[in-house]
Amino acid sequence: MKKATYISVLVLAILLSSSFEKHRNTSYYPPSDSEIETKIDSLLSIMTLDEKIGQTVLYSSIEDQTGPIMDPNYVNYLKNGEIGAIFNATGSAFTRELQKVAVEETRLGIPLIFGYDVIHGYKTIFPIPMGEASSWDLELMEKTAQIAAKEAAAEGLHWTFAPMIDVARDARWGRIAEGAGEDTFLGSKIARARVKGFQGDDLNDRYSILACAKHYAAYGAAQAGRDYHTVDMSLNTLRETYLPPFKAALDQDVATFMTAFNELNGVPATGNSFLLKDILRDEWNFDGFVVTDYTSINEMVHHGSAETLEHAGEIAMNSGVDMDMQGGVFKDYMKKSIEDGKIKISRLDEAVRDILRLKFKLGLFEDPYKYSNEQQEKEIILHEDHLEVARDAARKSMVLLKNEGDILPLKNSQKIALIGPLADDQFHIIGNWAAKGDRDGIAVSVKEGFEAQNKNFAFAKACNIEDSEQPDFTEAIKIAKAADVVVMVMGESERMSGEAASRTNLLLPGYQQQLIAEIKKTETPIVLVLYNGRPLNLSYESEAADAIVEAWFPGTSGGHAVTDVLYGDYNPAGKLTVTFPRNVGQIPIYYNMKNTGRPQDIPGAHERYVSKYIDVDNSPMYPFGYGLSYTKFTYGRPELSSKTMTVDDSITISTTVTNSGDYDGEEVVQLYIKDRFASITRPVKELKGFEKIFLKKGETKTIEFTITPEDLKFHNNKLEFVNEAGDYDLFVAGDSDNEFTNSFNFEFKKSKT
Ligand code: NOJ
Repeated sequence: MKKATYISVLVLAILLSSSFEKHRNTSYYPPSDSEIETKIDSLLSIMTLDEKIGQTVLYSSIEDQTGPIMDPNYVNYLKNGEIGAIFNATGSAFTRELQKVAVEETRLGIPLIFGYDVIHGYKTIFPIPMGEASSWDLELMEKTAQIAAKEAAAEGLHWTFAPMIDVARDARWGRIAEGAGEDTFLGSKIARARVKGFQGDDLNDRYSILACAKHYAAYGAAQAGRDYHTVDMSLNTLRETYLPPFKAALDQDVATFMTAFNELNGVPATGNSFLLKDILRDEWNFDGFVVTDYTSINEMVHHGSAETLEHAGEIAMNSGVDMDMQGGVFKDYMKKSIEDGKIKISRLDEAVRDILRLKFKLGLFEDPYKYSNEQQEKEIILHEDHLEVARDAARKSMVLLKNEGDILPLKNSQKIALIGPLADDQFHIIGNWAAKGDRDGIAVSVKEGFEAQNKNFAFAKACNIEDSEQPDFTEAIKIAKAADVVVMVMGESERMSGEAASRTNLLLPGYQQQLIAEIKKTETPIVLVLYNGRPLNLSYESEAADAIVEAWFPGTSGGHAVTDVLYGDYNPAGKLTVTFPRNVGQIPIYYNMKNTGRPQDIPGAHERYVSKYIDVDNSPMYPFGYGLSYTKFTYGRPELSSKTMTVDDSITISTTVTNSGDYDGEEVVQLYIKDRFASITRPVKELKGFEKIFLKKGETKTIEFTITPEDLKFHNNKLEFVNEAGDYDLFVAGDSDNEFTNSFNFEFKKSKT
């Protein structure tokens, strides 16, 4: 639009609405909630239908590609006022340039929101989310999200498509790497920590960005672990297992929700009014906006739930979607749908209101360029404090799976053979969805970590992650023979997890297992360090290696962190948040399954006619909550403040934990409870509390958990969230695989009557 026209229209706008003038005026910010609503009223009253539709349209710039369809015309759409938000455009200069078009070249000058997948760091990359979840350290997760937000905001971004809070129980699904693991209770706590980290206390803060709870809902339950696949589950499972992390994010005031690609019980999540209206808006009172996943409105035609794109757009908008990511359906068809009476203008107004509200809250009407500041970008990105937190987060994420004969920690006097495709890697180490993380030069490989700390080692790569023919292991075997200990750094490529990265084979790829077998023949003890984005089948490695450190994809400072852990400068304390199966056939396998009518592990169980496999044990390779330390922790029997809990009461469960080993260390103390009997079957155990503690060698602490009736509630057959009277078993331990050691009874009577 020509400047002159712009000015005349603006004048008209001012005449029509003095409060619209005020929202462009810097004199009084931040406005109160009611002032914001008044401003939105004014704006809505002068917006044309096209301008309203424009606010509901999100397009990707061509700087980055995170989905199948790109549209280079987005700049023209922007000039025409047909876009309300842009993603995959980063950097102060670029975002400023695009913002300038929105603010100066469109009739109303409504600023854009810039979104991006800031998943586990922006430029400073932290461990992948599943790795970081293994720290069970909520403060740390809040901190890393806060740093990620700060770096992203320094580069002009207002909105992250994170956290991914899908409960995931299928190791084949590549996106298991992006979440917090298999448990709903822990996942809900982590969801809150990450939302808090991204959004801070006030969205108007310069370094707060909008978070996005994704993918709503049940995306993690894709059939056979194949990405985007169908989800069919009971409403009880949906409520009990998959929805609570979303509710937790909402309780933390998450600003936006993203719909999932999958269908749920026959209705695609993007056109699912049960999820988007009944639950999200009516039951939970969500007042942010809902964005689709990438082209997921269009995909409703492939799902077979919409006849045409126009129809799909109508279903999506009428179901509660507010913004269309990349599909162009709202842009191309909404006007007609409104004119045809298929979408009510009031519904569009609601969507626009929710989007504008967040633009006001971010302070974009006051200063649309406030996030695009080159000077701040230079000062903040890759700040040394951020790299230190990245190192700490990586160490805290690592899980010691095995340590036969206390081969770890290594001693400085030992000669090490450092072997494997990932030992000197700076590319894969930062993992998938690594935003603007550099894949060369900046990330620290394990070899560089060893060098920085003057370790005594020789190095041989030996093979790639995948090879098309048998690699030559001669050099690796030679240095292994001459060493006291072999450290092998192996795993998956970063491309093997994340979106569209499902695998049916969970073994180490390529010739890596053969390499271990050859090195094993040298009889030099083997320490295996793993980078991977999912639980792997480690049946072979758990026999062949003397020690295994699960390092996930540890991020920018990963090499330093691995060195710290291997040499005992940090005593590992990570605990798995996903079960590691013995083989792919056990999937889905998770710690809080149901019992069946023929459990194998009860006294007197029949040898054959029980629920089991005939070729592999029921137990996992490594259970949920599991992880070793260089020290040992001894648990006392949990004591209860009372053996009976009543409706208006709580009980306290206390346990002593002693560091009975030779090193200071951290431990994640975990409380599991089993509801013995109920009107609907309950899991064999459920995590109900945890605390991460530090104990000096020889030290003992008493840990207390308070349990209230609220903690024992579940959804019954009528989907009511209720308490039922009965007996509960419990244990407190360092992992989920333990026997119950105490119990209590819950009654409906009141304690004081
Ligand atoms: C598709 C992914 O499913 C989603 O998680 C991501 O945020 C969008 N693409 C945008 O990149």
